[in-house]
Amino acid sequence: MQKFRKIGVLTSGGDSPGMNAAVRAVVRSAIAQGVEVMGIYKGYRGLIDNEMKQLSYRDVSGILHDGGTCLYSDRCHRFRFLEGQQEAAETCRKNEIDGVVVIGGDGTFRGGVDLTAQGIPTIGIPATIDNDITSTDYTIGFDTAVNTSLSMVDRLRDTCESLARANVVEVMGRDAGDIALEVGISVGAIAIAIKEVPFDEEGLIKKIKAGRDSGKRNYIVIVSEGLGDYSEKLAKLIPEETGVETRFARLAHVVRGGSPTLRDRMLATRMGHKAVECLLQGESNLVMCERNGRIEPMDITYALKLDRMYKGKLTEGELRPYSLADITEMREICEAKRRYMLDTYNMADILSR
Ligand code: F6P
Repeated sequence: MQKFRKIGVLTSGGDSPGMNAAVRAVVRSAIAQGVEVMGIYKGYRGLIDNEMKQLSYRDVSGILHDGGTCLYSDRCHRFRFLEGQQEAAETCRKNEIDGVVVIGGDGTFRGGVDLTAQGIPTIGIPATIDNDITSTDYTIGFDTAVNTSLSMVDRLRDTCESLARANVVEVMGRDAGDIALEVGISVGAIAIAIKEVPFDEEGLIKKIKAGRDSGKRNYIVIVSEGLGDYSEKLAKLIPEETGVETRFARLAHVVRGGSPTLRDRMLATRMGHKAVECLLQGESNLVMCERNGRIEPMDITYALKLDRMYKGKLTEGELRPYSLADITEMREICEAKRRYMLDTYNMADILSR
């Protein structure tokens, strides 16, 4: 088995609260095993441009509770091409980096597969507020983002109640409705619009009219950004159809910052520790996943295919390398996630009448 003397760690793509906690866990777990750690700055761009620094145990003190990422982040265009990937691998060899832990979302993991293909063992840690990595129940940053969103929407509800208004609130999540769904339920929204479930516009109008006639004064509608400009359209439609004065709010990047919650700190720490354990045991091309409360590593390529299956993006022949048992397992995971989204959505609908 290869003896690891030095590893690298980077954060890439949209930042998320808890990335620092993951960096800290990676650095300290590796140092505890006698392995040096290079902090690579600005994601894959730093790997190409050789922007890195050795990190000590102390260098990662006092970052556990910080939002953002102390290693900075980037969406590196050059790394999408073979030349960039080769340059990045060359930088690793020059710096005697034996393996890399990459922290980010699905784009980061595609980069991890490319780096592994260039001979640099790579392990991924899922960190994105979107919770859109199908292989893991939760991604680092999601819990903080939903908690921040709900405390903001609670404030909006106060002012709606005072003035008998509706507020349509658009939340981030890219194409995934996870943030919208959990925030919508937790604030008692009258309706939630996400890409995964058809939206009953007429039903919403009826609910608002019935609420208005029975003395209800606040109406919160949560819309996922994946629906494009639908949130703004809805904010115009509601007053036209119901007479209820309506405001619009887009929470946007504000929920991507801030101090991570306990859940995100724990998830990041457990995943960071496990990632180092796997890397030093000679494993590669794995992504850390939390499944039913346990940290279970999964092959990144497999996890990316699973993701494409869930998102309906698979093209002809992509599953050819996989066994029937693998494909059945992938289908079951996708089905379980779809069922969860639908059942939770239906529950929210029943509770919001
Ligand atoms: O993936 C995280 C995320 O915050 C999404 O929710 C959002 O769609 C996107 O990134 C925004 O990207 P940017 O930071 O480039 O504006």
